[in-house]
Amino acid sequence: SQRQKVDESLSPFTLSQGQLQLVKARMRVGLEAGLRSKGPSAIKMLPSFVYHRPNGTERGKYLALDLGGTNFRALLVHFKKGLQQKTRLYHKLYTIPLEIMQGTGEDLFDYLAACVSDFLDYMGVKHAHLPTGFTFSFPCEQTSIATGTLVSWTKGFKATDCEGHDVVNMLQEAIKRRNEFDLDIAAVVNDTVGTMMSCAYEDPQCEIGLIAGTGTNVCYMEEVKNIEKTGQNKERLARQEERAEGEEDEDDGMEGEKKAGDVETEKMCINTEWGGLGDDGSLDDIITPYDIEVDKQSLNPGKQRFEKLTSGMYLGEVVRQVLLDLTRGGLLFRGHVTETLKTPGIFQTKYLSQIESDHLALLQVRSVLQQLGLESTCNDSMIVKEVCGAVSRRAAQLCGAGMAAVVDKIRENRGLDHLNITVGVDGALYKQHPHFAGILHDTAKVLAPQCNVTFLPSEEGSGKGAALITAVARQKQKM
Ligand code: BG6
Ligand code: GLC
Repeated sequence: SQRQKVDESLSPFTLSQGQLQLVKARMRVGLEAGLRSKGPSAIKMLPSFVYHRPNGTERGKYLALDLGGTNFRALLVHFKKGLQQKTRLYHKLYTIPLEIMQGTGEDLFDYLAACVSDFLDYMGVKHAHLPTGFTFSFPCEQTSIATGTLVSWTKGFKATDCEGHDVVNMLQEAIKRRNEFDLDIAAVVNDTVGTMMSCAYEDPQCEIGLIAGTGTNVCYMEEVKNIEKTGQNKERLARQEERAEGEEDEDDGMEGEKKAGDVETEKMCINTEWGGLGDDGSLDDIITPYDIEVDKQSLNPGKQRFEKLTSGMYLGEVVRQVLLDLTRGGLLFRGHVTETLKTPGIFQTKYLSQIESDHLALLQVRSVLQQLGLESTCNDSMIVKEVCGAVSRRAAQLCGAGMAAVVDKIRENRGLDHLNITVGVDGALYKQHPHFAGILHDTAKVLAPQCNVTFLPSEEGSGKGAALITAVARQKQKM
């Protein structure tokens, strides 16, 4: 019967507790391997050179630039004295046209520089030469807080001549080409790191950053002694630490978090790039034929396999592949494969969120589908809703399993039976989807029963975090 066939198509999306435990275990193995690896690894585990979380003494005006999923955001952040004085924040959003995301690197950075120019005019601070933090939401190999070499583009970006180049340099060059204003870029940070810092400003227990949006990724505070990487890197870390300690000896308590006995628990934030789990084949047993199709049609086949099972840029595509299959099998849309259904990208996160909303009657689901150009019967819309549910539930469970691995690792790092920890979160999938967050929380709780995990949605994005990191970097330099 039709019912049976639909159930059969959706059954590979149902993961058992045992399978989720396996995913957790593989994530853990991947995190450890990435920390040790001298060469490429599925999970990159990139050092961020962020050692401290904010402590409330940050002051002054900073510019933050935030290149995230599909938007570029420029912000002016003003940290004021005294706890009662709220941080002031002004921002402007710029969309990035597809031809810029996938054109030449020079055009991309020229475009960013033009947006910055517009923002500085808008705020009336063109000649202020503000210290700037750059949130750059792609994997970067860093050798200091102020440099970052793009390892590879992910998500929807594919601008030429950027991979292998320093992104701060590319932005500085673009600004020079404009010959109109100057920027002092003091820090480059991943969006996970910016989000963690932003939330840590409100909650000192926040030691993890999670993005569940266009892409998916996690950062967390790791013990420096566990970050083996290359010998060279180790030396660099040691030198960096020495410097940090030297500076702190002279400081006036501005950053007085560290006590004498704390040296062995010195921590650094690691950008895991967990979206790469499975790039070595470790998720092949749960990957469905629909996922394989989505991967093949992506900009980076074979890469970011976990991300392609769990993030906003791909969930709609997985749904579309299932719908195509059901339609070809005559189970949906009266067997009619329309051009619309063949169009990549039609099911954005916001539509999935609407379709799955509990407040929406089937008739309204039908009208959402109609907006997308899909004529459906009531039965069709019920099936579409089920497909969306199966795909997004799996995504949330997989993220939950990954999170369980991260919190248990932190707990074991500290030799604790029980860990209380906060995760700062951002991303449209987490914030807008009606069920994703709940399923993620439940899964993490079941798979990491010794951890009490609080999820704190970031209120002002990662830009505030980037500004905080910049504040610390500049304070240190002045001493
Ligand atoms: C934003 C952060 O709020 O969330 C960005 O400021 C981040 O840095 C983004 O990249 C992620 O969400 P999405 O849904 O836009 O990918
Ligand atoms: C992708 C990027 C990663 C980013 C994440 C969320 O996975 O590689 O750097 O943090 O998307 O935006």
